[in-house]
Amino acid sequence: MWVMVTGGAGYIGSHAVLALREAGFDVVVYDNLSRGFADALASEDFRGVPLVRGDVGDRQLVGETVRRFGVQAVMHFAALAQVAESVAEPVGYFRNNLVQGLDFVETLLDAGINTFIFSSTAAVYGEPQTIPIPEDHPTCPTNPYGMSKLSFEYVLASLARARGLRYATLRYFNVAGADPQGRAGERHDPETHLIPLVLRAASSGKAVDIFGTDYPTPDGTCIRDYIHVTDLVAAHILALRALLTGAVASHLPSGAGYGLKYNLGSQKGYSVREIITAAEKVVGHSIKVREAGRRPGDPAVLVASSERIRQELGWQPRFGLDEILATAWAWEQKRQTVNKGQSEEHGR
Ligand code: UFG
Repeated sequence: MWVMVTGGAGYIGSHAVLALREAGFDVVVYDNLSRGFADALASEDFRGVPLVRGDVGDRQLVGETVRRFGVQAVMHFAALAQVAESVAEPVGYFRNNLVQGLDFVETLLDAGINTFIFSSTAAVYGEPQTIPIPEDHPTCPTNPYGMSKLSFEYVLASLARARGLRYATLRYFNVAGADPQGRAGERHDPETHLIPLVLRAASSGKAVDIFGTDYPTPDGTCIRDYIHVTDLVAAHILALRALLTGAVASHLPSGAGYGLKYNLGSQKGYSVREIITAAEKVVGHSIKVREAGRRPGDPAVLVASSERIRQELGWQPRFGLDEILATAWAWEQKRQTVNKGQSEEHGR
């Protein structure tokens, strides 16, 4: 069965491509390469995965692509996903994540595709009222990024009722780590996430900023729930199979739509300082830090309850913080080697 992966040239999408193929699916990547990288799919590990370059709002190209490959299900990762950028440029976020998303999902439904996995975010909850955060926690996003994702969740819920869409919305906490076999890893330009920045500081000898040391947490720094990207994409495969077999909705008449909603997190929280200390063990030396002011909009603590997907789909994360850091460090070292090789080529 062919699955279309939007944003498949990006960090999480490229890991999803690997997981889907391992699970026996054929995959076509659809990506406009505004944030992803074509060369993320250039290695032998991705041989035979077609890349179609286009916007998800391009109805004609989406329609042609799904017909050409006989696509039967979609994993939708393509999105703008930087909180600070969304505050500065909200229109782009709503246009990309919501308006183009509307065109996209309607085109899919018109083509008879009603199986859809959506990558959502913990940012839909806003400032948490309870920790850990369950799926039925009130949603009150504090930035346009979270608002655009939550708005699209409403679109999906409406289309389930109106058009029989069967979807899963997966709310990610802090995704980190890299493919344990080194086939894919995190790559953002610019990089804003804590773990890759800590590891870059470890290799460059420069300091990493700690954004805020006066939060109401035991060591004063923000606490987050880090989930390994391989565990995260494994949850997508489980959700896809659940939608395709109707396992969690066997009571519904055929053609009736419904939505699954799951948090994806490890249910454990680590502070920024704890991450740095754990990273020091992995890299084998100390890492310089610079205590900086708070980053606007950061909640003090975000930790998931992911009991629902554990109970309903039997999801169980396999990798803890040490593996997250070790795989991210292996990827960072590979990235450094490639960059060095490229600058030597240019220098010749
Ligand atoms: N941090 C630092 N220094 C850095 C980078 C980050 O101290 O150089 C801190 C942040 O302030 C935060 C923690 O490390 O407390 C994690 O920051 P990230 O930027 O890695 O991740 P966020 O928690 O900000 O972002 C994640 C997801 C977003 C999502 C958001 C919800 O990546 O997609 O959670 O709040 F929107």
